[in-house]
Amino acid sequence: MKILVLGSGGREHALCWKIAASPLVTKLWCLPGNAGIANDAECVPIDLTDHAAVIAFCKANAVDFVVVGPDAAIAAGIVDDLNAARFKAFGPTKAAGQLESSKSFTKALCRDNNIPTAAYGHFDKAEAAKAYIRQQGAPIVVKADGLAAGKGVVVAMTLDEALAAVEMMFGGAFGESGAEVVVEEFMQGEEASFFVLCDGEHALPLATVQDHKRAFDGDQGPNTGGMGAYSPAPVMTEALCQQVMDEIIHPTLRAMKAKGMPYKGVLYAGIMLTDNGPKLVEYNARFGDPECQVLMLRMMSDIVPALIACADGQLGHMSLRWYDEVAITVIMATKGYPGDAPKGSRIEGLDEAAKGEGVEIFHAGTKRIDGHITANGGRVLNVCALGKSVSEARERAYAAIDKINWPEGFCRRDIGWRAVEREQAKR
Ligand code: AMP
Ligand code: GLY
Repeated sequence: MKILVLGSGGREHALCWKIAASPLVTKLWCLPGNAGIANDAECVPIDLTDHAAVIAFCKANAVDFVVVGPDAAIAAGIVDDLNAARFKAFGPTKAAGQLESSKSFTKALCRDNNIPTAAYGHFDKAEAAKAYIRQQGAPIVVKADGLAAGKGVVVAMTLDEALAAVEMMFGGAFGESGAEVVVEEFMQGEEASFFVLCDGEHALPLATVQDHKRAFDGDQGPNTGGMGAYSPAPVMTEALCQQVMDEIIHPTLRAMKAKGMPYKGVLYAGIMLTDNGPKLVEYNARFGDPECQVLMLRMMSDIVPALIACADGQLGHMSLRWYDEVAITVIMATKGYPGDAPKGSRIEGLDEAAKGEGVEIFHAGTKRIDGHITANGGRVLNVCALGKSVSEARERAYAAIDKINWPEGFCRRDIGWRAVEREQAKR
């Protein structure tokens, strides 16, 4: 079977690595891919926003199945266009993808179906949003209604911060996506990410993950796309997972089906574990990056039949097996990220680093120039490791990082700290 993966990040490298291991696959391409993906798939420099070019590639190469990585492609309707051209794809349609691309869509769906989430108001005028904020008081959360590359959320601890966030969003800081805002109740608790495969009706839970969104150690500094993650998330007990399935995931899938937009693909629920039980923070309509990397490392089963079952509505017959080991990933980013990150610096020592026990290195923003791996963006490498415990996996990942020679890069040194503390407390 010939498979095409769309995207160019660490998430897509992990997907390609896992898909390439399937005995069902005879050929694997990635558009546009990166320097690391090139080891697992043939990379072709086609712009994903050019749907006609993607479809022409599928036709010319008789592609059997397309796996869509990034949210932007889903929001742009790539799955709809592929399906219209009679290509089978993994991922939601544009309408179903609103679970990620429109916060007000998801908030209304939760309200109408009693799905636990933060109370909210939805506004298209700054003055009305400010009045609501003054009435509710701080802390409070202000969100641009649309995709804003993970930067459209302000968790305001004071009234002034919240009012300034409204000003900024209506001032055009996020372009179109700030023309409407959602103002939410502040939820207190520990966060975890919960992933399920969906086929429009059935849901197959994957593993739980915890990530680290802040740029610097101690969860300090600006929010990023994610600086590291580990799986499983020990805070998500089996009982809590079941509660999330019953109270959040299944009602969502039923509601989407009833609306005529059945959700197919991977649904990524950000969950806040509050004193009143798990509540939905947000949905994403794709695998998380870097959460996907640790999921792929822990998945024992062939992923390809599961992805196809999502597209075919056959997930009810599927199950997946997982390794018991813990997986961790530490992101190495170019200094300056999440702000400006200069491109072109050389990275040495990757082969030696990858030899460590349980270690796997996925590439995010890398490019091969004159035979050398160079940095080509903010998040550049995902250094991953498996281990019997988070402590062991983390030691292995950092031992690998210490072999990488890249003065222009940085990473957090404390990925997994919550889980390590839990492990130490148990001893
Ligand atoms: P989002 O992009 O919606 O996931 O928001 C980014 C981050 O902001 C989340 O991972 C949370 O840490 C935080 N956040 C979002 N909504 C809330 C909320 N209602 N209460 C507390 N924290 C929130
Ligand atoms: N790591 C967060 C995300 O993929 O949205």
